[in-house]
Amino acid sequence: MMNILGIETSCDETSAAIVTDGITIRSNIVASQIPLHQRWGGVVPELASRQHIERLLPVIIEALEQAGLELTEIDGIAVTNRPGLLGSLLVGVCGVKSLAWVLGVPLVGVHHLDGHIASAWLAEPDIEFPFVCLLVSGGHTELVLVQNRRERFSLGRTRDDAAGECFDKCARAMGLPYPGGPAIGTSANFGLPDRIAFPRPLRDEGLEFSFSGLKTSLIRFLAEDQGKTPVEDIAASLQAAIVEVLVEKAFRAVKTVGVNTLCVAGGVAANQELKRQLIGRGKQAGVRCVTPAPILCTDNAAMIAAAGAVRLMAGERDAIQLDTMAGEPIPHLETVEL
Ligand code: KG4
Ligand code: ZN
Repeated sequence: MMNILGIETSCDETSAAIVTDGITIRSNIVASQIPLHQRWGGVVPELASRQHIERLLPVIIEALEQAGLELTEIDGIAVTNRPGLLGSLLVGVCGVKSLAWVLGVPLVGVHHLDGHIASAWLAEPDIEFPFVCLLVSGGHTELVLVQNRRERFSLGRTRDDAAGECFDKCARAMGLPYPGGPAIGTSANFGLPDRIAFPRPLRDEGLEFSFSGLKTSLIRFLAEDQGKTPVEDIAASLQAAIVEVLVEKAFRAVKTVGVNTLCVAGGVAANQELKRQLIGRGKQAGVRCVTPAPILCTDNAAMIAAAGAVRLMAGERDAIQLDTMAGEPIPHLETVEL
């Protein structure tokens, strides 16, 4: 049995989790910084780093308590070391380096997106490989071919804004609070999705995304509309445009690479309408759709522990010099014929 401590501090959530044997979540504590950043309408990197410093040890202690474990019962540590806000990443990485050294346990650095991908097998332990992962977060929007627990290739990513970023920027323009995704999702429940015909960028073309034009089109609409259209209808119409593009592309990717399983991951995967449409389309197309619980979609350390477990359980470790990186893309799969 291997008890792995996972740590996530790449953006605005300080999280610690204990996952046993890479699959059983014993605890998954997330201290969200949403109230701290809300008044600025987005994440302020310096404030984020400072709050990670204050919260790192408390979340680790809480994760251990909830799992009913002592610190000495930890067999390995997995920490997000890339990509993300450098200052925030450094808090987590430096913090656990000393912990790993004192405890004498192996430490591995985890790519944040590998964490999101690992939520697939936390949600469904016997998930069938290979599968396509629709990775939709605040910082990334990408279709990934997941060959097995170690190998993954990008099939296409966004050329500009991520889907979550589009939700966040549009919400801000509409006067809705940060983070915009949940605010627009809630408002959209009471609106008409056909009210405004927002563009569906690149919907019928390849596996890349582009969301910045959609944001521009919403801003233009707001300026012309002068507050006449109910915010709920705008939210529902915008959500419909984003979801339609994501669903269309995800199923094009599944068809292109010829797999039977699709998983959705990342913060935007918490969107109810996206889940509903993916599951519905999956039933029609005979594709198994894995939709992790919301706590596993937004940033959390259980997914980091699960991703790190793949290397830790194989006896691998990173050196104490383990570095942080602001950006590192998933390698692109060049051979796919579209
Ligand atoms: O994965 P995540 O927690 O952080 C990053 O790695 O970026 O994703 C955060 C993003 C934000 O843009 C947020 O607005 C979006 O996920 N999000 C949602 C929902 N919950 C979070 N978007 C749409 N609907 C939601 N329910
Ligand atoms: Zn994330």
